[in-house]
Amino acid sequence: MPVVSGSIDSDLAENLANNLGWEHHRLIARRFPDSEAYVRVPSKSIEAVRSETVVVVATTFPDEGIVEALLMLEAIRDVRSGNLQNLEGSGPDKLDDVGPGIFLAIPYFGYSRQDKRFQQGEVISAALIVRLLARHIDGLIVLDIHAPSVLDDFEKPLEFVSAMPEIATHLKSTINPDFILSPDKGAIDRASEVANLIDCKFSYLEKTRIDAHTIEHKPKDLDVDGSIVAIVDDMISTGGTICKASQALLNQGAKEVHAACTHGLFTGGAITRLDEHVNGVHATDSVSRNPRALVSAAPALARGVKNLSKRLNL
Ligand code: R5P
Repeated sequence: MPVVSGSIDSDLAENLANNLGWEHHRLIARRFPDSEAYVRVPSKSIEAVRSETVVVVATTFPDEGIVEALLMLEAIRDVRSGNLQNLEGSGPDKLDDVGPGIFLAIPYFGYSRQDKRFQQGEVISAALIVRLLARHIDGLIVLDIHAPSVLDDFEKPLEFVSAMPEIATHLKSTINPDFILSPDKGAIDRASEVANLIDCKFSYLEKTRIDAHTIEHKPKDLDVDGSIVAIVDDMISTGGTICKASQALLNQGAKEVHAACTHGLFTGGAITRLDEHVNGVHATDSVSRNPRALVSAAPALARGVKNLSKRLNL
């Protein structure tokens, strides 16, 4: 099967293709001078895109990713349906419709945190993004999505995958932590999975978010005196959650504190802030070009693609 990408997650898509032993095809994806996106399936990839099920690697972060994802999916849908008519007159105008067979692999599902209507009149952004993508695809693989419930109404084949096994292996071989901390209740499942895989102690904090930049943790006694601790979360954005949790750990005698996550967004000076509060930051490459991408997200996505293919007998 071909793995296809645009301009954003090309390296990750290539790694995914290598992991699966498949071909990687890069679509032509660029911007017009006014910043609008342009996408084209190059002639050399048309046969591959039509021959088998296609795995499209695309992200919904940053916003440009959403438009690029939609354009890529539409371009591939056109090519697969045999609609090749073009003003240049190159190639055949029309071929057979090869039918469904577009899987979308989303390394980081942007907008997943606006998964509820917290205030009257708000848009549930995550649900809108799901609806936009759903009409173009026949299957979905999504990595460490913040709230899986946003896909409750998604009616097509779906695989949730997690990079926690790879994060555990990486942490074990680099810092060998004695203790894993979940910085809030929402990350308990993911962080405890890492603790189980490493076979070390685990606890969690209770967090209240005051606003995008301010959070509070309920005080808690943690058995971390002299320990190397890794705080494990699904994502790091401003770094506020990690910095607060790290302070609590250091106050209670932790020897080293590290931060680990799948999605390294690192917004608004997060790296500088984190460097002042923790000994190391370990993220995957689910968000492209993040400066702490030390773990590949490709094996996790490959598991999802394989599971989906198996379920559908492909
Ligand atoms: C929220 O529940 C998430 O799991 C993360 O804890 C949060 O998004 C991290 O954001 P920040 O780095 O801005 O504190």
